[in-house]
Amino acid sequence: MDAQTHLWWQRGVVYQIYPRSFMDADGDGTGDLPGITQRLDYLAWLGVDAVWLSPIFPSPMTDFGYDVADYCGIDPLFGTMAEFDALLARAHALGLKLILDFVSNHTSDRHPWFEASRGRLDGKTDWYLWRDPALGGGPPNNWMAHFGGPAWTWDAVRGQYYCHSFLPTQPDLNWRHPDVRRAMYDALRFWLERGVDGFRVDVIWLMIKDDQFRNNPPDPAWQPGQRPFASQLPLYNADRPEVHEVVAEMRAVLDHYAERVLIGEIYLPIDRLVTYYGRGGRGAQLPFNFHLLLLPEWSAAALAELIWTYESALPPSAWPNWVLGNHDRSRVATRIGPAQARVAAMLLLTLRGTPTLYMGEELGMADTATPADAVRDPAEQREPGLGLGRDPERTPFLWGEGEGHGFTTGTPWLPFGTGASLAAQRDDPASFISLYRTLLALRRGHEALAIGAVEDVRAEGAVLSYARTGGGARFEVVLNTGGTAVRHRAPEGAIVANTHASLNAEILQPNQGIVINRSSFHEGETV
Ligand code: NOJ
Repeated sequence: MDAQTHLWWQRGVVYQIYPRSFMDADGDGTGDLPGITQRLDYLAWLGVDAVWLSPIFPSPMTDFGYDVADYCGIDPLFGTMAEFDALLARAHALGLKLILDFVSNHTSDRHPWFEASRGRLDGKTDWYLWRDPALGGGPPNNWMAHFGGPAWTWDAVRGQYYCHSFLPTQPDLNWRHPDVRRAMYDALRFWLERGVDGFRVDVIWLMIKDDQFRNNPPDPAWQPGQRPFASQLPLYNADRPEVHEVVAEMRAVLDHYAERVLIGEIYLPIDRLVTYYGRGGRGAQLPFNFHLLLLPEWSAAALAELIWTYESALPPSAWPNWVLGNHDRSRVATRIGPAQARVAAMLLLTLRGTPTLYMGEELGMADTATPADAVRDPAEQREPGLGLGRDPERTPFLWGEGEGHGFTTGTPWLPFGTGASLAAQRDDPASFISLYRTLLALRRGHEALAIGAVEDVRAEGAVLSYARTGGGARFEVVLNTGGTAVRHRAPEGAIVANTHASLNAEILQPNQGIVINRSSFHEGETV
């Protein structure tokens, strides 16, 4: 373990901001860049190291910014380029890194490139995936869109179908075209030159499609009543071998600058996920590991198995990472309950590898149901009632009490949730935020926790335990993943974090987690 060999994105903790919902400085009900800048002090106080912003680029907002109309601008809803520069400068002054969201698989249908391509203009004829109808008519193949319906829409201007993995307003780029690659790498350089510290690349595993556009086979596990999208195995429009060449090229663009990070959004099983580190480690430095989010059953056995499977699958020198929540998935406090969410926080912040927090997790924010007439998310609007809507996890950050919760002086774009605000939690040592601050400070203060090894991963009944070691230090983490008290002899040493106010040496309370510093333990001391 050598401090010099670990970079900021290995030692640090990433914090995801969904800009619409973080802080609204101009009172229009939607968060913006000046709002984020105002609140960067909070993030420094919290103790995170890097901030990832979901898309802030000019966009018609049919998918709230994941439909980009200009890769090198700022949407006026969020602010101006000068305000972006001010945000970046303030972040850096506070020692925070800034990561942008690079939406590479698709653009908006309002992007000038798509306008040109549909008119076969400016050499952009093949910048998107255009196909003639199938023999006998209809879409060229059976691929389906993630947001419902076929992945193909007829374009009357061009007289062909175009492919879109998401909404019809999000046409997929043709990443086999060298000019597309060049243009997109130039966009990366534009932001790298401005000083951003890295990118989270949207749906990186979907970027290349089968060159023969073959039909996907059916998924035999699919049951009627389930989401239609899941009725196919995405063999030909996801995780294609050629995607790794693109990822390696993106990485090479970043490597031209010092200490930048490439994070990939990837929903794949672990054995496939780890291939995104790339040959010789020349792919993504952090292929997002969503398996804590996807775990079918939150139990000590399942968690131990996951940690073991993931750790053993990592290629040599690959750096692990863990994610507990994001703007696309039900919040952790809702998935496993608020009491267990504190245990999950302890898990996330003591595992080996870079953790990514989703804004509001540190307050214990839960999902907030959106009334049917107030639904904003296109995923819910297009396939209502299947539980696919993402508004519940995107509600505004609860800065304070009162009408606008310190978020806005206007009407918030989504309704507020009901949890305890930052103001209410800030000075309470038993609050969520206090637990998060303790864990973040511990991680920062101890090499063993930040970059050390993970050892002795064990599940005994509902108790998950493991050790973090390095530089002669040893920390034991003991987590009761269940809602009942369990007899468990706590390891001896100093309690440095506890989800509860006290610890009984023989019994772990329901949903209790502890971190014990064994390094400072001397014979004769008790907990
Ligand atoms: C993944 C993003 O996280 C999600 O919010 C978005 O809708 C899709 N990609 C499409 O860009």
